[in-house]
Amino acid sequence: MKFQSPTGMHDILGKDMMYFQKIEKVCQDVADFYGFRRIETPILEDTKLFEKGTGFSTDIVQKEMFSLRTKGGDYLTLRPEATPGIVRSYLQKGMENLPKPIKFWHLGPFFRYERPQAGRFREFNQFGFESIGMDKPIIDVQIIQIFFNILKELGFKDLTIEINTIGCPECRSEYKRKLIKYLKSNQSNLCSDCKRRLKENPLRILDCKNEKCQEVIKSAPQMIEHLCKDCHSHFKNVLEFLEELELPYSLNPYLVRGLDYYTRTVFEIFPNLSEKEKESLGQERGKIALAGGGRYDNLVKLLGGKETPACGGAAGVERIIRLMKVMGKKIPTKKQPQVFLAQVGVLSKRRALKIFEDLRENNIKIVEAFYKDSLVEQLKIADKLGIKFVLILGQKEAIDNEIIIRHMDTGKQTIIPFKKIVKHLKKIIK
Ligand code: HAM
Repeated sequence: MKFQSPTGMHDILGKDMMYFQKIEKVCQDVADFYGFRRIETPILEDTKLFEKGTGFSTDIVQKEMFSLRTKGGDYLTLRPEATPGIVRSYLQKGMENLPKPIKFWHLGPFFRYERPQAGRFREFNQFGFESIGMDKPIIDVQIIQIFFNILKELGFKDLTIEINTIGCPECRSEYKRKLIKYLKSNQSNLCSDCKRRLKENPLRILDCKNEKCQEVIKSAPQMIEHLCKDCHSHFKNVLEFLEELELPYSLNPYLVRGLDYYTRTVFEIFPNLSEKEKESLGQERGKIALAGGGRYDNLVKLLGGKETPACGGAAGVERIIRLMKVMGKKIPTKKQPQVFLAQVGVLSKRRALKIFEDLRENNIKIVEAFYKDSLVEQLKIADKLGIKFVLILGQKEAIDNEIIIRHMDTGKQTIIPFKKIVKHLKKIIK
């Protein structure tokens, strides 16, 4: 029997790992600049945390959670998203009493039982930024700016930020009433999913991709026309700041996002691809969000804390890597070691082990093939690796406490005493 990785789950290695590490590095640098500290929460959390936080009626909770019962009888779920876990930690660690905002970033694996398809996996990595404790519109814009900067730094030249507001519970309930009335009168033209959503989560109908539903949605009342004074002014400020920062945004009145905790600003970031890039994506060319997020002013309270505004977002690492490859964005390979340590004979192998460690302590990158005995084979390996200098330790040299340095391009060889190896290498290595 040959084992395969589970459906929708992948190994990360080779080139993908280099992209992964590059993304992590860019996130870390940007986080440091904006003053976000890293947090990693457990992969498993209490199932109720997501039912309550992400929302009982959301697709994530209804269809996509990997849940289990432990031997002790606890109901746990592989985290499908980060925000409820981070808020749980914020409350559990008593951060409510600290000066605000509390700013966290994270990067790690998440799990959603989705139908595997282009850009949708069952295990995927996200990085995210959360700012807890501030209600000002400038925070929303700073979060968007952070994702924009990271993507730009990763080589995305042309991006669109889709933005909308879904108001606060007060103005939204009035809007919802009107929306339901309108949708009910057009119920026969909705898909079966949306007929269900009409009862459970009517706002989600607005971002249904079904063609018939789209026709209905086109003439539906829009949230933006039903905002209360405060939500209106908040959104107006967000747009003004985006303009000030020259961030390329586009209003999308149908953007509602699939998580229940959002209030006011919601956003998603999409790449604008050239025809050639779309062609290389083939079947995967559908509209795929790289990042998404928004404000969640009621989540802290919902999970047992004080009333605390917050805002954040997350981006999908695998989606970003896929597009970086399509855009031809190369990751510079790590500097290759220039020195190889070859040994022939039992005594020299023992001595070589010690020399290898001495060089590591002195920060000299070096490769070896201690598992080989023949000098010819070791030189072949060094040649393949494009090594410049080979240290050769034979029986005689090991006894005399000396080592041969062979310049691979000229074939020139010199002998130096053990104690001068570090100094000599530091002189010749560029
Ligand atoms: P989300 O939109 O569900 O938001 O996920 C954010 C990003 O994760 C997406 O834009 C996408 O790039 C990536 N992603 C989501 N699902 C998958 C999947 N199945 N396969 C591959 N990539 C995927 C959240 O998770 C919110 N917690 C964001 C947030 C933070 N809002 C406020 N704070």
